[in-house]
Amino acid sequence: MKEVEGFGIPSPFFMKDNKLMRLNEKDNEEEFISRQIPYVTKCFDDIEKNNVQYELKWFNDGKVYSEVVPAIALATKREVIALANKGLSSNDRNARHLIEYFDLFLEKNKLKRSVVVSHLGYVGNHFIHPLIESKFRIVPPDEGEIQRLKAIKCSGTVEDWITNVLEPLYDNPKALFPIMASFASVLFKEFDLSPIIVDISGISSSGKTTVQKVCASVWGKPSGYISSMLTTKVAIERIASFLNAFPLILDDTNTAHDKKALQQIIYLFGNGTGKMRGSLDGSRGTSSWQSVFITTGENNILEYTNSQGSAARVIPITNFKFINKTADYFTLLNQNVELYYGSIGLEFIKRWGESFRAI
Ligand SMILES: Nc1ncnc2c1ncn2[C@@H]1O[C@H](COP(=O)(O)OP(=O)(O)O)[C@@H](O)[C@H]1O
Ligand SMILES: [Mg+2]
Repeated sequence: MKEVEGFGIPSPFFMKDNKLMRLNEKDNEEEFISRQIPYVTKCFDDIEKNNVQYELKWFNDGKVYSEVVPAIALATKREVIALANKGLSSNDRNARHLIEYFDLFLEKNKLKRSVVVSHLGYVGNHFIHPLIESKFRIVPPDEGEIQRLKAIKCSGTVEDWITNVLEPLYDNPKALFPIMASFASVLFKEFDLSPIIVDISGISSSGKTTVQKVCASVWGKPSGYISSMLTTKVAIERIASFLNAFPLILDDTNTAHDKKALQQIIYLFGNGTGKMRGSLDGSRGTSSWQSVFITTGENNILEYTNSQGSAARVIPITNFKFINKTADYFTLLNQNVELYYGSIGLEFIKRWGESFRAI
């Protein structure tokens, strides 16, 4: 099978009828190990977290399975058995042999290491954007991050975006500010600025969410980029840290959280670092970001905070509204942001890199 061409099965293991077998050296008996033959095909080295992950491939009913797993998943009995959840035929009986197999496999097949990162934005002096070629491979830590990563993409040209998304807002400075803040977010690291919250508040149906979609459309598809579901500090910390330099955009922030939670979120984001968290795969690392958080809500977010420190990091845009706009205007704008997105942000990063720094 071409996916695993060039990889050898290490003795005393061997393949028989597409099954993994082992030759017992003592009595020369062939022992059945596993219905499938797993191949370790790639090695990913996360330089920031100092942890190693492997790509595991196997075949079942003519289908190729591929999983990226932490090194520990190939090294301990419990973790090897847990791979059964991914469809691998590992179990209590063969786990010990599979650990031996993986170890010998890695010894026999020298894998090329590729460098991985678990977040976007800055890694040293490199800027990581899924559409900019680099030596790094982005491995999102979890579902929420995968969703963001998938949303960062392009549709339509730079000109399409300017004409259909930006130009309709030219007469509304309160709308233009958060859009500029969305661009500026990726420059915060460059100028070593602390994170800032841009909060859009105003009555219902005043166009706050529509403008937020435009902010998101700078970088990707708004319906995937924006979230209103993040209710915990941990979730916000994770996404902010994954986005790193890209803006965090959450809708209806101040309706979704109670006062105390909101205060903590403002403080947490303004700090730019999360707590050190051990994750399931045993990796460590401090989460951090230098970016802009764009929030919306009916009330000014500052009404929810009494802490001077965090208040200093909020730019409130209050009484948000559009003047003399028809329903068609909003319909069109809401359609256009889902058609034209991402190209402008990509171009912005490229030009910034050409003018000021090597990306
Ligand atoms: N997908 C859409 N298609 C058409 N009109 C929309 C869409 N989303 C919102 N609108 C309209 O745009 C206006 C502003 O809505 P919205 O941006 O959601 O305001 P807010 O977030 O301030 O409540 C409202 O009149 C709303 O009915
Ligand atoms: Mg809204």
